[in-house]
Amino acid sequence: MISPDVSLVDLQLSQPLSLGVLASGKGSNLVAVADAIAQGKLNAAIKVVIYNKAQAQVKEKAAELGIPSVFCNHRDYPNREAFDQVLVDTLKAYQVHWVIMAGWMRVVTPVLINAFPDHVINIHPSLLPSFKGINGVEQALAAGVKITGCTVHLVRPEVDSGPILMQAAVPIFAQDTCEGLHQRIQQQEHQILPGAIALAAQQEN
Ligand code: GAR
Repeated sequence: MISPDVSLVDLQLSQPLSLGVLASGKGSNLVAVADAIAQGKLNAAIKVVIYNKAQAQVKEKAAELGIPSVFCNHRDYPNREAFDQVLVDTLKAYQVHWVIMAGWMRVVTPVLINAFPDHVINIHPSLLPSFKGINGVEQALAAGVKITGCTVHLVRPEVDSGPILMQAAVPIFAQDTCEGLHQRIQQQEHQILPGAIALAAQQEN
């Protein structure tokens, strides 16, 4: 397993990073990033959380953390580009410089990617380039691989294809269920996501 010491990559960040988080689910990765910030391991501030599912638990997580959250329902827009433009406008209004897709279950378009060049980061529950797209955990189980994991990467228009920042490996055991395996993958996600954000910021300097 890879468990990077995020403080090592973070030490050289002089300016606090201004983050916006896009999330569709329960928000455990949001909490991991917020914890790393609170513990002084990541020099950053989360300016806003945008969620696209009314019932997403990430809304409560953001409230507990004192982070503003905005509900943007993709069903209210005629196409992906129009929805992404609303995301861009919202993120810019909160003066976000880095966009973190932390369980964002929507394909994003160049409208978002080009508004934040090389500043959109995604976390995916597999060792990319294996098992792209939805159900990365199920795909690994179905394929019968013995090792899977998680990947943090810069976002490009082709889904789950951008330059890799960090990965962590997770073994698959014979008795694994999808939920149990996903939980172990998420433990690793929480380890690598803050460090990968710091690494991306370092790489631009
Ligand atoms: C994470 O496991 C993340 O890798 C996955 O959604 C989960 C969100 O968990 N993302 C994708 O599958 C993207 N294709 P969280 O809401 O607890 O952070």
